[in-house]
Amino acid sequence: MPQTTHLLNSDHDGLAQAAALLRSGALVAFPTETVYGLGGNARDAAAVAGIYAAKGRPSFNPLIVHVADLDAAELIAVFNDQARKIAAAFWPGPLTMVLPLRPASGIADLVTAGLETVAIRIPAHPVARALLREFGGAVAAPSANPSGKISPTTAAHVMGGLSGKIAGVVDGGACPVGVESTIISLAPLTLLREGGLVREDLTAVLGPLADGGDAQKPNAPGQLTSHYAPAAQVRLNVVTPRPDEIWIGFGDCAGSPLSLSPRGDLVEAATRLFSVLREADALQKPIAFAPIPEIGLGRAINDRLRRAAAPRD
Ligand code: TXA
Ligand code: MG
Repeated sequence: MPQTTHLLNSDHDGLAQAAALLRSGALVAFPTETVYGLGGNARDAAAVAGIYAAKGRPSFNPLIVHVADLDAAELIAVFNDQARKIAAAFWPGPLTMVLPLRPASGIADLVTAGLETVAIRIPAHPVARALLREFGGAVAAPSANPSGKISPTTAAHVMGGLSGKIAGVVDGGACPVGVESTIISLAPLTLLREGGLVREDLTAVLGPLADGGDAQKPNAPGQLTSHYAPAAQVRLNVVTPRPDEIWIGFGDCAGSPLSLSPRGDLVEAATRLFSVLREADALQKPIAFAPIPEIGLGRAINDRLRRAAAPRD
């Protein structure tokens, strides 16, 4: 049923309204440092079912639980010494840990899609933290876009995809990181999704990481291979674009009409990635991306671009 989607300020009143909506079982999108999340009370099965419905998401794909602090996290997941060490080093921040689900967590089964593990994170964005504190519980939140589409990094992006399907959007401006969180699992330490916390920072603290994730397995992140799909065809690592293509530059790319970062800065490129994909898509021409180095945030950027370029069903 269509509903009015309220655009809420990130001031005290707006956050109080957003928290009240979450308590009532309604869905509210909110900014995190990575992308906007589509939030619902993780302990309310009907609210979580509503998240899947609003996104049109295949229900086998589990959600990340967002909490304000480690005490709240420990009510939901089982932390060992290694998990606590990782939390101390990287939370709050753009890192999600997949940990054993605590049996009495009260988290709705739909959040974990029936798995015995739960993906959990403490976001660093001040608006997300204030909302989580005000709400006081755990918020299940996938990226706030229709399933398979480009992740949102502004409130306007969220409105464009989900207006009429959710109760509200808290406007906290543009997301400072711009790509989704890095996801790891423990025992053995495995990188399941490249993201906003770069691999080099993780390995500096934790030592070597195995690569995991399998796009064919629905319970692994990375999920469906085709993702972030613009309407247009996408080619990668293009040094010489065709005349019909929009060439998206990185660094020195004379003649590129749209650039992820003219000065070749990966942080800026990550911040701009999803907005630029949307802008390019609106031009209704094939899109060609210049090469992005496979280091630091370049790994997450290239991962998202490969999904944007993947064959569609
Ligand atoms: O930055 C982010 O991570 C954003 C913000 C809103 O926090 N959220 C996000 O959620 O990207 P989503 O739903 O688009 O991606 C969550 C990923 C999925 O690939 C899912 O398969 C994986 O997390 N996931 C969730 N629970 C899992 C579990 N128990 N085991 C393995 N993977 C899990
Ligand atoms: Mg997503």
